[in-house]
Amino acid sequence: PGFTVEILPELDSTNTELMRRARAGRAEPVLLVAQRQTAGRGRLGRAWASAPGDSLTFSLGLPYAPAGWSGLSLAVGVAVAEALHPRIALKWPNDLWLDGRKLAGILVETASAAGAAPGAGRYAVVGIGINIAPRPAEGLSTPPASLRELWPEADAAAALDRIALPLVQALQGFEQHGFAPFQARYAARDALRERAVALSDGTAGTAHGVGDDGALLVHTAAGMKSVTSSEVSVRPV
Ligand code: BTN
Repeated sequence: PGFTVEILPELDSTNTELMRRARAGRAEPVLLVAQRQTAGRGRLGRAWASAPGDSLTFSLGLPYAPAGWSGLSLAVGVAVAEALHPRIALKWPNDLWLDGRKLAGILVETASAAGAAPGAGRYAVVGIGINIAPRPAEGLSTPPASLRELWPEADAAAALDRIALPLVQALQGFEQHGFAPFQARYAARDALRERAVALSDGTAGTAHGVGDDGALLVHTAAGMKSVTSSEVSVRPV
C-alpha cells in the first residue's frame, strides 16, 4: 500500500495521534514522525521520554488483517534490528538492546477501523522509539544505549531512511504468513536465550527462546511455560 509520510514538529504522542484519527474515521496508511513528543508512551503505562534530536519517534498506522496478532511486535523488532546493525539484540517482547542496555522500544496498539466490515481487520499502530544520541539515565537502573555508539553520524532521518522499507515489508510478511518466517531471525538475536529470567507474574526460570507464535518459552521448576501475556516483563537475573 502507499503510505503518506507526515513529519510534525510536535505531538503528544504519534501513537495517541493515530489512535485518535482512527477513532475519528481516518484509519489511513500513514507514517507519522514527531520531532518532539510531549507525552510519549511506552508499554505497561510507562512514559517514553525524549528530548528533541536525541531520538527517532514515529508510528506507522495501517489497516491490518493478520490471521493472528501474537508475535507482531517481535516481527517488527526483527525488521528494525536487522535494518540497523548486526550487534542489536532483541529482548522479549519488544525492546531492542545493545550490550544489555535499551536502544529502542516498540508499542503496538490497535483500533477498530470505523466503518470496516466485521472480520475485515483492524487499524494497527506500530510505534517505535529509538535512542539516537546518548541520553541521561533518568532514574533507570541501566543507562540507555544510543545508535551513535554503533554509527557515529547517526541521526533520526538517516535511521528512518534505513528502517521504513524493511518495516513495511515485515508488516506485509507478517500479515500473510504470521510469525513463523521471523522465528529463526528472532532466535539469531535473542538477548534472553538460556538466561535466567524473572517475570513480573512471579515466574522464574531459564528462557528457552520463542515459539512459532512468538510466546516466550521459560523452563521453570514446574516445567516449560509458554508466556504470551504482554503484561509480563522479563529481566535477566
Ligand atoms: C516501550 O519501550 O515500552 C515502548 C516505547 C515506544 C515509544 C514510541 S515513540 C513513538 C511512539 N509514540 C509513542 O507514544 N510511543 C511510541
